[in-house]
Amino acid sequence: MSQVSPDLSVQIGPVTFENPIFTASGTWGYGLEYTDIAPPGPLGGVVTKTLTMEPRLGNTQPRVREQPHGLLNSIGLENVGINAFLGEKLPRLRFLNASVIVSLAGRDEDEFATLIQRLAQFPGWAGVELNLSCPNVARGGLDFGQDPVRIERITALARAALPADRSLWVKLTPNVSSIGDLAKAAEQGGAHAVTCINTVLGVEVNLQERRPVFPRAVAGYSGPAILPIALAKVLETARAVSIPVVGVGGIGSIDDALAFFVVGASAVQVGTSLFPEPDLANRMVEQFSARLTELGAASPRELRWEGLAG
Ligand code: SIN
Repeated sequence: MSQVSPDLSVQIGPVTFENPIFTASGTWGYGLEYTDIAPPGPLGGVVTKTLTMEPRLGNTQPRVREQPHGLLNSIGLENVGINAFLGEKLPRLRFLNASVIVSLAGRDEDEFATLIQRLAQFPGWAGVELNLSCPNVARGGLDFGQDPVRIERITALARAALPADRSLWVKLTPNVSSIGDLAKAAEQGGAHAVTCINTVLGVEVNLQERRPVFPRAVAGYSGPAILPIALAKVLETARAVSIPVVGVGGIGSIDDALAFFVVGASAVQVGTSLFPEPDLANRMVEQFSARLTELGAASPRELRWEGLAG
């Protein structure tokens, strides 16, 4: 008897993605840097490096430091700016048949909507992810993202500016006492999905000089060490909201990715592990169906833990 292939598609708001494996913002450039070994087309989608209205140089060095079980970064949202992205990067992504989620950060609440209005003049993108959780900037990061009132307001402004056929995701910080409250605020504001989690706050110390290594002292911690934290935050979030949860944090293998579906995720993003293995997300797409079949599941939805609801 022939086996029916698992259904990998996932609908988030008005957009149906072919599969639920995405790259995480800031870990795979603009989706164009590895096309010889890892083309973006077969992925569920590419989430771009966060874009701002003007180009940004980012923070001073050091900006990235390897740790025994992960990575600390303090990039500071270095990016080419929305206009260079629209002129130079988006047409190439379109040519490569990539499904594109554009990560955005505004300096103030209104700028998120302004960025979306600019984006709306161009074809070739499926949705946006509001980065309300960058720990490495003085304004427009955690100051927005730790406050449910501001999350709801920014999300509502963004939703009002978004074309009706595009998907709206909000990326949340784990550095709060209740990520569920943040997720509810995003849902209330009209988000189609929440992405959990951005990096965990971390510090590296230079003992000799008796000071933190990073110029802003605190940086964002990612990589294998945060997988259990991300799973716990996704579980908490999935219990708090009805919209899809996109799980991210510490994924290094197909089974790490599948674990997120058990705790309530509808899609996943692969991040820090792409630095040593830029083709990892592509390989996961290839492995996904066979591993689901081995687990006796006809779709990732069937992996969901029955105890999640209560
Ligand atoms: C950065 O650019 O500093 C990292 C982005 C983020 O954590 O959101």
